Amino acid sequence: SSSSTSREAEPAMNAYRAQLLRFDTDGTPLYESDGLLVVGLGTDGVQRVVDAGPYRTVAARHPQVAVTHWPDRLIAPGFIDMHVHYPQTDIIGAPADGLLPWLENYTFPAETRFAQPAYAAEVANVFFSELLRHGVTTALAFATTHPASVDAFFQGAQKRGLRMISGKVLQDRHSPDGLRDETEQSLIDSETLIQRWHGQGRLGYAITPRFAPTSTDAQLRGAGELAARHPDTWIHSHVAENRDEVRWVRELFPQARSYVDVYRGFGLLRERAVYAHCIHLDDADRALMRDTGAVAAVSPTSNLFLGSGFFDYEGAERIGMRHGLASDVGGGTSFSPFHTMLAAYYVGREGQTKPGLSLAPSRLWWHHTGGAARALGLQGVIGTLQAGTEADFVLLNPKATPLLARKTERAQNLEELLFALIVLGDDRVVDQVCIA
Ligand code: GUN
Ligand code: ZN
Repeated sequence: SSSSTSREAEPAMNAYRAQLLRFDTDGTPLYESDGLLVVGLGTDGVQRVVDAGPYRTVAARHPQVAVTHWPDRLIAPGFIDMHVHYPQTDIIGAPADGLLPWLENYTFPAETRFAQPAYAAEVANVFFSELLRHGVTTALAFATTHPASVDAFFQGAQKRGLRMISGKVLQDRHSPDGLRDETEQSLIDSETLIQRWHGQGRLGYAITPRFAPTSTDAQLRGAGELAARHPDTWIHSHVAENRDEVRWVRELFPQARSYVDVYRGFGLLRERAVYAHCIHLDDADRALMRDTGAVAAVSPTSNLFLGSGFFDYEGAERIGMRHGLASDVGGGTSFSPFHTMLAAYYVGREGQTKPGLSLAPSRLWWHHTGGAARALGLQGVIGTLQAGTEADFVLLNPKATPLLARKTERAQNLEELLFALIVLGDDRVVDQVCIA
């Protein structure tokens, strides 16, 4: 994105012709077998969608624009990972009895190393490369308690022009030396990082208490106050993932009605508050999430790998608790949105009581793109390829493997095409990724 000419007068536009998947605001998929996506450079240096639809009609509206033609490829919105831990990139696949021993034996030791800025920068670089290889263009990511881990993350994201959200982890108790932070200082550091990074280009800050058991009341209260002072920042934490964890929270916070209610008590439920897992909830919890605007990040590969349980999609839909999909690497076993969508499908079948396809392929896809964007409060910004949204998109190859080629050639409709990609797809399907 150079700026040698006056772009304001005549914005630079480019157009891409291929199969095209977009989403309506309510999640309805829009598909063109011969589509055109027209993007233009804004004065802020970000490319946005100017126009999109059937090739014939859209091309006629933009006769001057150069068209790049990718026959046999599918343009789709970049995937959005609603919950992932960049410092856990190297501990994918660490086996444990369950969440709490996994944290103690693998995760906490791995995270202590992020006090070193050079190490954090190296892992952040690997992390962004992995996201992009898998077609993920935006993530809400945990860093570690070390402020340097947040700087390393945002510097890497900025260099690549990515829309990314992260924050310093708050954990001032029940944590080992080298990871445990100090209550007052942790809140001061968080506010400094908000001022440094939040709203810088496409970067956003998330106030990030790890989970209720590793924060004192004072730290949780301080986090809630910080969230009230900075209402357009995100809040990012975990809730009700594992039965032993839920039991521990009940002992630590006997005054709260439930685990979700602990966060409510400290002012940590609001719009842009994102809670990973939300497995062991009741309907009152779901209604509390809905009424406050807090949302669930659902991580099926992690929940299956750690034996945490099964997210109740029907319960979420029935009550109206918003949710989207997430990898939760390193509890999750893959950066691939295809693997996550397939695991979500399995879990949805497990909990299914009504007949029919409760999680249709296009619905799974929506939960990892436009639906995730909406849950993050980024509707109209990313995730749908509607006009005006940022041009983060992937170019997928539906013939990336011999079996995929056979399956996608035989697809009778969009759902069959998307299902073939979900069941058989992975990073081999992701041909190119375009960032703004
Ligand atoms: N709960 C508290 N910390 C973590 C974490 O790092 N991963 C997961 N999956 N759950 C958590
Ligand atoms: Zn997590």
